[in-house]
Amino acid sequence: MKITFYGQNSLGIEVSGKNLIIDPFISSNPLSKDTIDIRSLKADYILLTHAHQDHVLDAEAIARNTGAKIVSNYEIAMHYQGMGFDVHPMNHGGSWEFDFGRVKYVNAIHTSTFADGTDGGFPGGFVIEGEHKNIYIAGDTALTMDMKLIPMWTKLDLAILPIGDNFTMGVEDAILASDFVQCDKVLGVHYDTFGYIEIDKEMAKKKFFDAGKDLMLLGIGESLEL
Ligand code: NI
Ligand code: MN
Repeated sequence: MKITFYGQNSLGIEVSGKNLIIDPFISSNPLSKDTIDIRSLKADYILLTHAHQDHVLDAEAIARNTGAKIVSNYEIAMHYQGMGFDVHPMNHGGSWEFDFGRVKYVNAIHTSTFADGTDGGFPGGFVIEGEHKNIYIAGDTALTMDMKLIPMWTKLDLAILPIGDNFTMGVEDAILASDFVQCDKVLGVHYDTFGYIEIDKEMAKKKFFDAGKDLMLLGIGESLEL
């Protein structure tokens, strides 16, 4: 499994010969708009955690370019189906065997409204069980006790957690989240994109290190291999 960071919560995942794009917010992200051309992205699936603009902005353009299927909660899926896109609706606690692995849509504590006020259902995260590796994409969320359910289902190889604070967990709560999901290997996301979520990256890494954990922070377009 190869995971590429495109800023905020935007990720590209290559797994079992399929390309997944998570929460694409690239063309208006000041950190990624000059580096990543969304027309160059391959996608068989676009997974959306919730409807906020900093997670769905480029979903339409990428789905149009690639014909990718949009996977999200029921309300978000119906929103895109109404626009003519191919979708797979899910809801919290449900999982589905896709051709790249099993996906479970899990709880997040946050909100989920489209920029125009359209209802985006309730927000979530994804647990993806790939052929060899399992990951958790928390999406935007507070620390929540529900995270303790995840290791009862799945042994994780990587937890992708927001660390920017203000709108989501900050570093301290992300460290607790890593305990809750029983995965010490963390990819930090949802930081530095705008003023409210600017963080001291070295301090964040040190706090994880001091807790016996590994916080990875990727540059825009940088990848890690699991
Ligand atoms: Ni959000
Ligand atoms: Mn967000």
